[in-house]
Amino acid sequence: MATRKFSGIVFLSLLLLISVASAKVFFEERFEDGWESRWVKSDWKKEDNMAGEWNYTSGKWNGDANDKGIQTSEDYRFYAISAEYPEFSNKDKTLVFQFSVKHEQKLDCGGGYMKLLSGDVDQKKFGGDTPYSIMFGPDICGYATKKVHAILTYNGENKLIKKDVPCETDQLSHVYTFILRPDATYSILIDNEEKQTGSLYKDWDVLPPKQIKDPEAKKPEDWDEKEYISDPEDKKPEGYDDIPKEIPDPDAKKPEDWDDEEDGEWTVPTIPNPEYKGPWKAKKIKNPNYKGKWKAPMIDNPDFKDDPDLYVFPKLKYVGIELWQVKSGTLFDNVLICDDPEYAKQLVEETWAKQKDAEKAAFEELEKKREEEESKDDHVDSDADDEGNDSGDEAEPEEEEEADDNDIKDEL
Ligand SMILES: *[C@@H]1O[C@H](CO)[C@@H](O)[C@H](O)[C@H]1NC(C)=O
Ligand SMILES: *[C@@H]1O[C@H](CO)[C@@H](O)[C@H](O)[C@H]1NC(C)=O
Repeated sequence: MATRKFSGIVFLSLLLLISVASAKVFFEERFEDGWESRWVKSDWKKEDNMAGEWNYTSGKWNGDANDKGIQTSEDYRFYAISAEYPEFSNKDKTLVFQFSVKHEQKLDCGGGYMKLLSGDVDQKKFGGDTPYSIMFGPDICGYATKKVHAILTYNGENKLIKKDVPCETDQLSHVYTFILRPDATYSILIDNEEKQTGSLYKDWDVLPPKQIKDPEAKKPEDWDEKEYISDPEDKKPEGYDDIPKEIPDPDAKKPEDWDDEEDGEWTVPTIPNPEYKGPWKAKKIKNPNYKGKWKAPMIDNPDFKDDPDLYVFPKLKYVGIELWQVKSGTLFDNVLICDDPEYAKQLVEETWAKQKDAEKAAFEELEKKREEEESKDDHVDSDADDEGNDSGDEAEPEEEEEADDNDIKDEL
């Protein structure tokens, strides 16, 4: 008995070990010491002096000052950096692509996405034109674009996800996870929460649709699409058409000073007849023959040819960041490429989840300070305004001073 129980426990713990150990990690970068030996900064845009510098930092606010990542540090610059890992295919495997990104700048327009590249790439030349296999991550531009990109390249064409997946827009770290499974389903997670999931067949136009509307089908002649009809039982009341539109005003009186000879014969003015209801219309009733809107039946699409390897990227070999930033301050960390969503989830728990409260507190502390500084300035200004104290003008924006100067010039 005792031995059997014991071996049972051993067996269970073995299973547990196997399930954790079975996660295959293709690439993991936490940006600790030595990261620079793994990443290659591209020379792209260097000769135009438009290549931005990366800052190795934990940022202005963080949950752990020792946990650094790489951050864009110059405005109006292009950024391109990549790392290589042993080439692999995700055939018959789940592919997990994950990283954290923090926009410390208040991002008006700019990306926070990463790319997976295949085959052989000259990393020194990696740039906006380098073909990629997968592009994934947040993209913000104005009010219109605040979304998570998930672009898959199929036969050399970049295919965008058709679903709208909103991204985070605050100034804190968030983890973006893309999961692609061998059954051609996918999931997009933000901070370990699933935001979108579905099928490659449906949510991208990678292949033509499996089914289409039958182009031969025609709406049957007797198909009734009218939801309401005039009630055939409803009859026009007798004399309805004899009701006049206007009647003589019963309150009108001939003015006393009316002179028939000079003013002509007095006629009673007319007013709208309250009895008059307009041309007669029959009551509307529900059409008993209503069949709903006609829809062509769906048939199998003759142009559809299934590709069981739709989800497969056979030569994944690099991960890269390639961005244009108007305003810099985007910080990347904890890049992971593996085959196990559970492993990826645990990494988020160990990193982002442990630090997020402290990061938020640090951010709010700084914001509070900033607001206090601002309101101090405002206070001086408003005092000056209220009491007409001119000495406050020194602190006012140049624009207004210029305007004042112009006013004076105009007056002179
Ligand atoms: C790098 O980031 C730190 C923290 O935000 C900042 O203090 C420093 O000025 C940055 N360095 C550059 C070169 O931007
Ligand atoms: C105007 O502002 C100056 C400096 O800010 C201050 O010393 C002075 O007392 C103010 N005068 C009035 C009337 O508020």
